[in-house]
This record gives sequence, structure tokens and C-alpha cells, in this order.
Amino acid sequence: TYVVTDNCIRCKYTDCVEVCPVDCFYEGENMLVIHPDECIDCGVCEPECPAEAIKPDTEPDMETWVEFNRKFSEAWPNLTTRRDHPEDAEKFDGMEGKLETHFS
Ligand code: SF4
Ligand code: F3S
Repeated sequence: TYVVTDNCIRCKYTDCVEVCPVDCFYEGENMLVIHPDECIDCGVCEPECPAEAIKPDTEPDMETWVEFNRKFSEAWPNLTTRRDHPEDAEKFDGMEGKLETHFS
């Protein structure tokens, strides 16, 4: 599976949802997640994210992110079309510690 990681928080560009062939993105207030059981591992979303927040679970230490994506994809609504990103998205791109301070 691919997962959305913390750099999505407050950037939320949503370019990713446009390309997913199985519509497996779910939307929280400040970020999106991928449902790990629905993702078919096609990889097309990874290069679409301007914040480089999407990673394959084959990268090291991704178990926590897989579980994070699973947990919230079961709680949040599905998102299948792009929306305007937050006006201050750029300010948050690359910021450290967003999970601790800006996730809600
Ligand atoms: Fe969707 Fe493919 Fe990205 Fe998985 S890897 S979330 S199936 S676009
Ligand atoms: Fe987030 Fe990147 Fe998608 S910032 S909403 S994972 S395009």
C-alpha cells in the first residue's frame, strides 16, 4: 500500500485524489489518508503530491503510518474530487512536527 504521511497536514493539495483509480482517499479536516486495504499499489498518486507526502509502505518505518492511515480512513468520508487547497498551504510545506502541533 501507499500511505499519506505528515507533510500532508495543512497542505492538503488533493491532487492525489484525482488520479487514484480506486478512489481510496479519505478526508479529515487537515489531511487525507489512504485506505490500505483498498489501495492497489499502482503508485500513480505518489508523484502527484506537491508536498511529497505520499510514500510506499516499503520505505523504512512505515508500519505506524499504515496503521494511522487505516484508522482514519475508517472514520473519515471518502474524497474523490480535487478541492482548492488552504490559502496558507505553502507555509506548512516541509514544516517539522506538524503531527504534534497541527493535526486535528
Ligand atoms: Fe490510489 Fe494507486 Fe495511490 Fe493506492 S497507489 S492510493 S491505488 S493512486
Ligand atoms: Fe495531501 Fe499531497 Fe494529497 S498534500 S491531499 S497527499 S496531494
